[in-house]
Amino acid sequence: MGSGAIPVGLDYPFAVQGKSTSAFARCARALLRVATHNDLDALYQVELECFREHRFRKDHLDWILANDKALTLVEETDEGRILGALMLLFEGTACRVLSVAVVPEARRGGLGTKMMQATEDAARERGSSVVRLEVSTQNLGAVEFYRRLGYRTDGVLYGYYSWGEDAYSMTRYVAPNVDAGRTGRVRRA
Ligand SMILES: CC(C)(COP(=O)(O)OP(=O)(O)OC[C@H]1O[C@@H](n2cnc3c(N)ncnc32)[C@H](O)[C@@H]1OP(=O)(O)O)[C@@H](O)C(=O)NCCC(=O)NCCS
Repeated sequence: MGSGAIPVGLDYPFAVQGKSTSAFARCARALLRVATHNDLDALYQVELECFREHRFRKDHLDWILANDKALTLVEETDEGRILGALMLLFEGTACRVLSVAVVPEARRGGLGTKMMQATEDAARERGSSVVRLEVSTQNLGAVEFYRRLGYRTDGVLYGYYSWGEDAYSMTRYVAPNVDAGRTGRVRRA
């Protein structure tokens, strides 16, 4: 298994062989594919559609795609249009959500929730005990989205963003992957 790979063993198939190969993570309704550098333009398009301002620049997306400690998952239509993108960074025992975005026409259909479930599954697979994220205090919809998923605010980061906005630091602890060693399968918490 190549570097950056995720071992197989969730209660859905998570067949990942490396960043350069096609790979999928299946949730109940979402089939998330591991993004590659070939998705750079499409991911930037998602940024344009999902964020009115303060978007990730293309070179930032490029860095994320190339980083072995990062994982980008996308949900796409049969025609290959990306509907949602999730970017994670694994830092020690923490899994950090760099970005989660669903294109406007696909919102409020549960895709964001599925991507956050995939986040927790990926965190368990990589031995992370906590999922962390920062969200602008002005992004009330996203704050409510995370709160509904069980994320708790553990601090306010004043002037966190380069443009001066404050952020909430939010966390959710994930149950350890206790069955993985014994059975090779993981039960969802
Ligand atoms: C935040 C985001 C990812 C949510 O994706 P989604 O697919 O619409 O989320 P879900 O359908 O799974 O929503 C689950 C629940 O979260 C809450 N929620 C989601 N969006 C919400 C909003 N704008 N306002 C209030 N509550 C919201 C609701 O309780 C929702 O359940 P309901 O639809 O039954 O009421 C999406 O709105 C988005 O891409 N926003 C722009 C990018 C962004 O701000 N990302 C987060 C910061 S990086």
